[in-house]
This record gives sequence, C-alpha cells and structure tokens, in this order.
Amino acid sequence: MSTTWDPEQYARFADHRARPFRDLLARVGAADPGLVVDLGCGNGPLTLSLAERWPRARIVGVDSSPRMLAAAREIDAAGRVEWVEADLADWEPATLGQVPDVLVSNAALQWVPRHQDRIRAWVRELPPGGWFAMQVPGNLDSPSHALMRETAAAHPAAERLRPALRRLSVADPATYLALLTEAGLEVDAWETTYLHVLDPDGRQEHPVLEWVRGTGLRPVLDVLADPAERDAYLADYATRLDAAYPRTGIGVVLPFRRLFAVAWRPT
Ligand SMILES: C[S@@+](CC[C@H](N)C(=O)[O-])C[C@H]1O[C@@H](n2cnc3c(N)ncnc32)[C@H](O)[C@@H]1O
Repeated sequence: MSTTWDPEQYARFADHRARPFRDLLARVGAADPGLVVDLGCGNGPLTLSLAERWPRARIVGVDSSPRMLAAAREIDAAGRVEWVEADLADWEPATLGQVPDVLVSNAALQWVPRHQDRIRAWVRELPPGGWFAMQVPGNLDSPSHALMRETAAAHPAAERLRPALRRLSVADPATYLALLTEAGLEVDAWETTYLHVLDPDGRQEHPVLEWVRGTGLRPVLDVLADPAERDAYLADYATRLDAAYPRTGIGVVLPFRRLFAVAWRPT
C-alpha cells in the first residue's frame, strides 16, 4: 500500500524542514548543470529553490504522490519545473531523454525499499562532474518513532499496524559513504542533530504529534481509516510524546538526527 500524503500538514513546519535541504545543497558544487532532478520532490518549494540557484538548468521534480505534485504545480505558476509522477522504486533517469548532472533527494529515500540499489543504479549514469546529494532522517530509534511503535503495539489494531511501521528504512551513514565511494565517486558524508524548537508561542496542544503527522506517521494514519480507531491511537501517542518531549520555557524541543551524503564524479 502506498502512503497518502497531506501537503498542508507537511507544510506546517516548512522552515524547519528546509534547513537540512539548504545544508545539503551548500555542499553541492555544480556550477552550471544542464539537468537537475529532485527525487521525492514533495510539495515543491525546495525544488523551486533549485531553479533559483541554477536559472539556466532544466529542473525536474519526481514524486509518487499526486497530492504533493498538485500542491507543487500550484506554486509553480510560471511552469519552471517539470513535475513527474513516478515511483522511485523503478524510476529511470533515461526516461528524461537527457543525462542528469545533479540528482538531489531530501527526506525521501527512507520511503523507498531497497533504495541503496536504486542509488547505485542512478549514480552509475552520472557524467564526470556530476553530483548526487541525499539526506535521510536518522531518527528511527528516537523516542518519537519508538513511541509510535509502542503505541501501535498497545492498540487493538496492532496486527494491522505492524507492516505499516516497517515502511521506513535507513542505513547507517558509513553504508552510504561506502556504496558511493565504491561507485567511483568522491564522497562527503556526515550527520547532524538539529534541535528544532517547536511552537515557541504555545499555540499547539501537541507540536511533536503535529510534526510527525506530516511525515513518519502517514502509514499508521492510512491503516487507521476508522475515526474511532484513529482517535484512540492519537490520544495515546500524544500522551506518550508529551512526556518524552515536555514543553520548556522556550517551546518544545525536538532533537532530529539527519544523515547526509554528497558525492561527485571526478572529471
Ligand atoms: C518527507 S517528504 C519530502 C519532500 C521534499 N523532498 C522536501 O524535502 O520537502 C517525502 C516525499 O517522498 C515522496 N515519496 C515517498 N516514497 C516515494 C516513492 N517510492 N517514489 C517517489 N516519491 C516518493 C512522498 O510522496 C513525499 O512527497
């Protein structure tokens, strides 16, 4: 079952979510690429920022969610980006009729099963001077995700929820470093834990829940289509999250580890 995305919910923390994208792109040195592809482009604003950085480039955003792509097309009034609906599990750069010079993927590959094989296939096609840049969350063991699993285990729909909770998969940073180096690329890999200060004004009841609802919780919400089942899950999960991420004088602090790899093919 594919995950249903809600562009509005995802956009609620747009500033926080943009930060790792900017940190990732700051390490990409492509000067004047011909074709730039954003893999798992989402609702569009970050893909449009690629068009600002490389005004002469052809820019393509690939995503499997029709709702995210509809939101992206809405903010791209000038039609600057080609928005392509495709599943990264089998998407091939050759479908674009041009070899990409830059492949970017921010916070998306964790949703793609066996994405390490896909990365190997994509970077094989990179020309000399070509770049591949990825960022994935490294927080599957953090309280937000551990509590998501604990809440599911205690829920009457535990059996149905189990496969949904296995949807996300991420390797450790050394694995991405090794696979990109073995592909003949120069690699810069690192990890960062951001301390996101959520809801400093105290307007939201459960800010961490609101954050996770936009991303990691999507597969759970898809399974719990029945409103009573869903409400029971959310009430229990919110209580656990509030205890793990208490409100402080400056807001609710959400530590979020992210893994980065930027690689380029030497000329
Ligand atoms: C957390 S959002 C990130 C969006 C954007 N890159 C950003 O940084 O804001 C993850 C995106 O990956 C997309 N996605 C998940 N699985 C995918 C797949 N198998 N193929 C293509 N896109 C996928 C989702 O539709 C969603 O838009």
